[in-house]
Amino acid sequence: MLDKDIEKVLLSQDTIRDIVKRLGQELTRDYHDKFPIVIGLLKGCIPFMSDLIREMDMHIELSFMNISSYFGGIESTGDVKIEMDLGMPVKNRHVLIAEDIVDTGRTIKAVVELLKYRGALSVKVVTLVDKPAGRVTEYQPDYVGQTIPKAFVVGYGLDYEEKYRNLPYVGTLKPSVYMNEE
Ligand code: IMP
Repeated sequence: MLDKDIEKVLLSQDTIRDIVKRLGQELTRDYHDKFPIVIGLLKGCIPFMSDLIREMDMHIELSFMNISSYFGGIESTGDVKIEMDLGMPVKNRHVLIAEDIVDTGRTIKAVVELLKYRGALSVKVVTLVDKPAGRVTEYQPDYVGQTIPKAFVVGYGLDYEEKYRNLPYVGTLKPSVYMNEE
């Protein structure tokens, strides 16, 4: 049912599996002795984070934040708001933020600055997808699954108006899907 709304698959299930495995190996190498807090930015992080942490062969703690910036459309509003904060202090801890996508860079930059301000020893970011062409602020994620051109994508956590997060791959939507709703 969901497949019919997809124009082009950018990251297939097999590709995602390979990416997650590679990122898991890199993170295991870099964090095995650091007992990091892995922070997921809800809700888009869910499939990616859940697969990624099972490829990280070390002790970790999990925590979540809910930051809103998009409010359901396909263009960023530029506003960043904490809807739900972490349930634990990050002071003197190594922190790894798991993101679905970095676009303008505003959301992640704001969260990184906040966690550094709260006294984290280090704050790094792992993102499944990077869209550097969308940047409005200088920011480079530390671990990138795949860089994609500037396009609006859905699936594997990424939504359009809260839908398509459960698609098992990442793809672009047919323009008719969002044009019909205006
Ligand atoms: P940024 O602050 O512009 O980097 O936006 C980051 C957030 O915007 C992500 O966590 C997503 O929730 C959302 N976002 C950015 N690009 C896309 C996209 O192509 N599809 C779905 N959500 C997106």
